[in-house]
Amino acid sequence: MIASEDDRNEKDEAPGSPRRLVRSDGAHSEWLHSYGRRRGRRLKPNQTALIEKHLDALSVTVPLDLAATFGKMPERLRLEIGFGGGEHLAHQAANNPDVSFLGAEPFMNGVATMLRHFEQKGLRNVRLYRGDARDLFSGIPDSSLETIYVLHPDPWPKARHNKRRLIQKPFLDQAWRMLKPGGELRLATDDPDYLIWMLQRVLIHPGFEWTARTADDWRLIPDDAIETRYGIKSRLEGRPATFLKLRRRETAA
Ligand SMILES: C[S@@+](CC[C@H](N)C(=O)[O-])C[C@H]1O[C@@H](n2cnc3c(N)ncnc32)[C@H](O)[C@@H]1O
Repeated sequence: MIASEDDRNEKDEAPGSPRRLVRSDGAHSEWLHSYGRRRGRRLKPNQTALIEKHLDALSVTVPLDLAATFGKMPERLRLEIGFGGGEHLAHQAANNPDVSFLGAEPFMNGVATMLRHFEQKGLRNVRLYRGDARDLFSGIPDSSLETIYVLHPDPWPKARHNKRRLIQKPFLDQAWRMLKPGGELRLATDDPDYLIWMLQRVLIHPGFEWTARTADDWRLIPDDAIETRYGIKSRLEGRPATFLKLRRRETAA
């Protein structure tokens, strides 16, 4: 059997370990891919037009320079990892005009959809990275983010692919470093196996506290959020999402 590119890439990887990969756009990512495809169906002409009109001005390059990206160092900053079609990112950005938002998504069709929201809502406080969110981490100072959103990350259900799951200890360590004390890591998943995986990692991480007090705190979508495309799809298919709010503790010791 011929090994797939994924199979070749994953040999001898420690879970969540960084490694140097050359991406199709020529840039480098230090991480084992946690996402599937970067390209989907052919872009429609209106999507191509949106990309040509907005993407250069909105795009973040790595290494990330936050002050240059936003014109000055943002006082309030949030990050959404894997924004998909960008509906949640656009919703948060529209409702919080005083907050700066970074969104990362390697899937080009999702980026094009986000640009439609961007234009419709007239957003000015969002910048996008078309790649692995973890490429941005080195440019994000300690204690600088108020929220990190990871909504319906790819579940990587096969055991041999679990190491591609985003939620790993090295990721949680970085999230703790970048979040302000009291800041929130918000996770959502519709995959029961990934939920257990997440809980097994976040609950033993000394830097985070799960804020849920009643079942509604993890069963119901947070008041200030909206359902994403994957959230709607999974609910309609009988797999309601679970929402985890993790508060960043002062210390991780
Ligand atoms: C299952 S989709 C969910 C999309 C969206 N959050 C939603 O709920 O509809 C997961 C998304 O995360 C993206 N993704 C996975 N790993 C990522 C990473 N390391 N950085 C940025 N995006 C990532 C994938 O490309 C994919 O679009």
